[in-house]
Amino acid sequence: MGKVLVTAALPYANGRVHLGHLAGAYLPADTYVRWRRLKGDDVVFICGSDEHGVPITLSALKRKCSPQEVVDEFHKANGAAFAAAGVAFDIWGRTSSPEHHALSQDFFAKLLSKGYIDRREIQQYYSEKSKMFLPDRYVEGTCPHCGNERARGDECENCQKPYEVTDLKNPRSALPGDDSAPVLKATSHWFLRLDTFQPRLERYVAAHGEGQSEAWRNNTLRGAEGWLKLGLRARCITRDTEWGVKIPLSEPGIDGKRLYVWFDAPIGYVTFTQQLFAQRGNPEGWREYWQNPACPIYNFIGKDNIPFHAITWPAMEFGYNDAAADGNKYEIASQVVANEFLNFGADKFSKSRGNLIEIGWFVEKYGAESLRYYLTAVAPEENDSTFTWEDYARRYNGELADVLGNFVHRTLTFTHKYFDAKIPEGGPAGDGEGKLRAEISAALSESAKHLDGLRFKAGLARLMDLARAGNRFFDEKAPWAQRKTDLHACGATIRVCCETTAALALGLRPFLPGSAPKILKSFGLAAEDAFKPGSAGLDPRSITQPGTPLAPPEVPFKKLEEKDLPAAQ
Ligand code: MF3
Ligand code: ZN
Repeated sequence: MGKVLVTAALPYANGRVHLGHLAGAYLPADTYVRWRRLKGDDVVFICGSDEHGVPITLSALKRKCSPQEVVDEFHKANGAAFAAAGVAFDIWGRTSSPEHHALSQDFFAKLLSKGYIDRREIQQYYSEKSKMFLPDRYVEGTCPHCGNERARGDECENCQKPYEVTDLKNPRSALPGDDSAPVLKATSHWFLRLDTFQPRLERYVAAHGEGQSEAWRNNTLRGAEGWLKLGLRARCITRDTEWGVKIPLSEPGIDGKRLYVWFDAPIGYVTFTQQLFAQRGNPEGWREYWQNPACPIYNFIGKDNIPFHAITWPAMEFGYNDAAADGNKYEIASQVVANEFLNFGADKFSKSRGNLIEIGWFVEKYGAESLRYYLTAVAPEENDSTFTWEDYARRYNGELADVLGNFVHRTLTFTHKYFDAKIPEGGPAGDGEGKLRAEISAALSESAKHLDGLRFKAGLARLMDLARAGNRFFDEKAPWAQRKTDLHACGATIRVCCETTAALALGLRPFLPGSAPKILKSFGLAAEDAFKPGSAGLDPRSITQPGTPLAPPEVPFKKLEEKDLPAAQ
């Protein structure tokens, strides 16, 4: 039994999590965790709220409350939304916790002690009107490359070419209610010398290139290589704000400065693991994950997080480990699993544009299982994908209800009605039965391979192909007619259909953790046994022996009608 550490990006506690988040990181992470546990691995699944950052202070200003009140609200709401979607973290931590602040300061101090952090005087835009320094994303102006008049200080959405915020023409503040022209003002900040980690990061990324045993997905590799190719430069890791982790130094003016949110956030993966084991009464237990080279670490993230996970965070760990005593080092991630974006209609899921669908809202209306099914079926693994209500309804009705639900339901109902609710022995298996049994083992082993390879969409699709094969077999054999002419042959048909049903439920466990155990319960498998650690390879035939009594079937997936969907899109 191996140990495995899985993290999902810490969502900002500045808004409610939406379907784009779920598809991009949390659902694949949860599916993977369930899969590794079924394989018998000892997995910890870490997540929590990212509670710092200037945007949170701006929300607080707007709502006339404190930043703490903002993060308290969303920490609670987002934790509940993930739980409702069946995403089951072992800990839902918070970066505002004292333990997290302490470890983040320890990182800063160790990196500083090695010369990996240095202090620089810079000129930064300042709004006289709002009396604050403006982070790059809160400066707007005309792009020096393409002339886009609404380019942001951190990026031009139109041409994506790199520039410095001071290259923007006609700069103005983009703070809410403030479009004044900012002035440049001197301020001092601390910079992480990413440049000093260039060779080590090149080796790290190359070790995860194509053909390597823990090869990263293309998007992740290309993103990391792109940064390395440009040549790494020192990055500013402090901000002029009063919300965040204090800089562990004493010097004049430092009170108004904090660590940059992207410096402290990934440290949360470590803090939360430590907190988890403290809660479990085993305060040293985290070491078996973070300090164990045999324990792989998987970071599930959206593509916008690639540079921070493939470059900045490993650099911080390298530097920390250089300074730390041997007993206090942290292993680097073996897999950074980045997904593309899920778009909504023609536009990005984006809080600022307001076209998002909240997870909590969706689950309450349509349930978690259909959401998990759909978002895995259209998972943005290689390319962006699009959510539309029509497509959701079409795939739900056409696949979950018509293919999977129908096959399971007709099999169980038939057994109930004509075989006294017991799996029949049936006559000798013919070619058809043999072929379907071969299809069962192919589907299960191929789907397992896809799960091992982090190809969730393909893993799910392979099982749906099995359900289609089951339906074709049922139609061809026509047990309703067989029953009248040859009860033995009919029994053979139904027996293998029961095996197929069990196989589908077993294979679907990591994807549909709510429905799969319900189906398995029909065969008398208790809920706790359905997810028994190490039961990944459970043979469907072992739970469908002739004579096994079946519980009465339920309709697993009721069809959606037009009237069930939100009208105007
Ligand atoms: N809060 C960031 C986002 O939502 C993700 C932080 S991931 C972490 O994009 F590693 F930094 F925690
Ligand atoms: Zn531009």
